[in-house]
Amino acid sequence: MDRIIIRGGRRLEGEIPISGAKNAALTLLPCALLTDEPLTLRNLPRLADVDSFGHLLNQLGVSITVEGSKPKDFGRVMTLRASNVASTVAPYDIVRKMRASILVLGPLLARAGEATVSLPGGCAIGNRPIDLHLKALEELGAEIELTAGYVRATAPKGGLVGGRITFPIVSVGATENALMAAVLAKGTTVIENAAREPEITDLAKCLVAMGADIEGLRTDTLTIRGKDKLHGATYAVMPDRIEAGSYACAAAITGGSVLLGGARRETMPAILSGLTDAGVHVADEPGGIRISANGEIKPLTLSTAPYPAFPTDMQAQFMAMLALANGTSLLTESIFENRYMHVPELNRMGADIEVRGRSAVVRGVKALTGAPVMATDLRASMSLVLAGLAAQGETQVARVYHLDRGYERLEEKLQAVGADIERASDG
Ligand code: UD1
Repeated sequence: MDRIIIRGGRRLEGEIPISGAKNAALTLLPCALLTDEPLTLRNLPRLADVDSFGHLLNQLGVSITVEGSKPKDFGRVMTLRASNVASTVAPYDIVRKMRASILVLGPLLARAGEATVSLPGGCAIGNRPIDLHLKALEELGAEIELTAGYVRATAPKGGLVGGRITFPIVSVGATENALMAAVLAKGTTVIENAAREPEITDLAKCLVAMGADIEGLRTDTLTIRGKDKLHGATYAVMPDRIEAGSYACAAAITGGSVLLGGARRETMPAILSGLTDAGVHVADEPGGIRISANGEIKPLTLSTAPYPAFPTDMQAQFMAMLALANGTSLLTESIFENRYMHVPELNRMGADIEVRGRSAVVRGVKALTGAPVMATDLRASMSLVLAGLAAQGETQVARVYHLDRGYERLEEKLQAVGADIERASDG
């Protein structure tokens, strides 16, 4: 298995190009199921999760061609065509590897009238139920049956019908499934307490480009007037705000100066204000956002919450940065119940972090020291890479497959700004 080896203490300087957003890609890919015409997606990140999603769509009858970019370029262009839906089953061995597979449920149901998707089950960051996805589809007339670890959804004879969906809590995935189902339902659907994450807006914009009628983009109330058919389109995936935020922390933790190439300020308000509050300089430049730091990090009090508040997907990376702050920070995780697996590993590198229920008290230390570490999820793994970049000595991060799910060629991007980082294979 591969490891990432980092010899810390180098100041990062230069430009890091920001890739297409993983979480936007994973909801744009299943849109291909909504039409028999081709959907071309540009700026797709080269990530293991995008490949797995392509594999799942292949099994459902979607033909995929990849074109355009040379192996050395970042990003890819994919044209997906679901002339027919050949299968409506998303099997266990794909869904268990990638929870986002649940996002074929809404589109399959809308286009083919039925869908059978393995229940994703728990994952490293918590229980993660899908009850809100199912309730939303029931509001559109679907019948839901749970058998043998699978959810089977069936539309009424004439297809899904518009309805009013009011989410009791904000869910990104459930909003996405509801939106993708509603665009082909008969009549009008109103989604209340919808998630407002920029990836939802990206999805809505792509659906509109495919002929959907959606009002209320960027707000928590989406009104969708269903269409009989959608058509093909070409759409470019938005830049990854979490990747950008992660590399911003890399610049901050090494006292460096990095231009986040192509990053969009309007998609990352809480991340950038968190950095500013920590004493990090954030400036707009024509090519992106420049992050500069002088090595001194101020402590913060932060709580994760749905967009536009501070994202749970940045909690671990900020914690690594705040481990070196000149004071005590308080981080509270309000989205997932078990998202502190990086804490014992950061403490092994010399951090002083104590978990108290849903909060973590981070007492800043003067320095971290390199160590062999590993994490059980993507963002936790990134927090260990960040700690390694600042630590004295060598850090080895195992279970690199987590990083490969969400960071396009991480070591190449960091090498290019001066990090001493490499990938080693154990055989
Ligand atoms: C998405 C992101 C993930 C991010 C998360 C929160 C993708 C592929 N993943 O995950 O990176 O961390 O948003 O911003 O885009 N919940 C229920 N019932 C449901 C659905 C969710 O109780 O049916 C709960 C969850 O357990 C969690 C909260 O709602 O506590 C928010 O989860 P949700 O927004 O749905 O996260 P995902 O869409 O799974």
